[in-house]
Amino acid sequence: MTRKSRKLEHLHYSLQICDRAATAGWEDIALIHQALPEISLAEVKTDCAFLGKPLRAPLMLNAMTGGHPDTAEINRRLARAARRAGIAMAVGSQRAALDEPALAYTYTAAREENPDGVLLANLSAACTPAEAAAAVEMIHADGLQLYLNVPQELAMGGGETDFRGVLANIATLVQCLSVPVIVKEVGFGLSREAVTALYRAGVRYIDVSGAGGTNFFAIESARRGRRRPEMEGWGIPAAVSLLEALQLQRPLFLIASGGLHSALDVAKGLAAGAGLAALARPALQRLVQGSPGELDRWLEQMIGDLRAVMLMAGAADLRALVRKPLVITGRTAEWLRCRGVD
Ligand code: FNR
Repeated sequence: MTRKSRKLEHLHYSLQICDRAATAGWEDIALIHQALPEISLAEVKTDCAFLGKPLRAPLMLNAMTGGHPDTAEINRRLARAARRAGIAMAVGSQRAALDEPALAYTYTAAREENPDGVLLANLSAACTPAEAAAAVEMIHADGLQLYLNVPQELAMGGGETDFRGVLANIATLVQCLSVPVIVKEVGFGLSREAVTALYRAGVRYIDVSGAGGTNFFAIESARRGRRRPEMEGWGIPAAVSLLEALQLQRPLFLIASGGLHSALDVAKGLAAGAGLAALARPALQRLVQGSPGELDRWLEQMIGDLRAVMLMAGAADLRALVRKPLVITGRTAEWLRCRGVD
């Protein structure tokens, strides 16, 4: 199996697998309805800045693809949607183009389509400083996402099995890169312990990418022709992961992601304290399976709905949204209690 065809299989299986072993937990967070908001919808603002550039809304199309000729068009169309919506985007792992430079166009297509927008490079956290710098340079990235994906490596068969030295490598990368480093999971979440270790290593941007959305254990076992439902519940639900990280009260920029489906989910992540919300599979689904323009319409609706939710919660801007009360119930509340986080 070549890396190129694996890229297409990830796209294929991520869209095919929609049964979820566990939820992301966003349903356990409630923003309180305010019947007297005393705000006009016209004055509700979602604009913000990320990595020194303005965004129309605190949203990102998270890392997905590149590395196969067919993926150039997908990255181009994702970047077009991100530009039109005024939101950020990350390309998928650039390993393929580092190994085979002729494939760089499958990633640079995104930068061509959105020359001024926020675009993130993406590589494994085990990459070398030279590889990291090359990935950033390739797409003139505003930041580099380093992904952690232990369960995926173990599930894929023939993947990495030695995970020693990754934290020290991240510390080195943070030191020597010219752009900010964002450490992310790929759908299994980051624990309080992992976030603390990353903070101590100098990382200031964390994307929790928790469980409950895209499930790489399921994707990899489907690719191998044998699903392993008994293993597919592994991971920290996205809402739990975000709340654990927030409770550390470190000066971190947190990105809520994993199983976000609606503006209401996004608003909960932002109200809890995330600076940005990122979505992968739901955007891919609209792009690949939807009618022309569907991803654009969905993102417009998402931003419109976010403004409506903010108004209903009594928040005229994102700073006000963070100060709004939240109620946390169910499995998420139980989990945080068991972990000694209230
Ligand atoms: C991903 N994701 C991912 N992450 C990463 O850091 N590098 C990558 O190359 C990929 N590739 C990839 C391919 C496909 C098809 C999907 C759906 C996802 C993970 C992604 O960025 C995100 O962290 C998770 O998908 C969780 O978000 P959702 O999908 O639940 O919104």
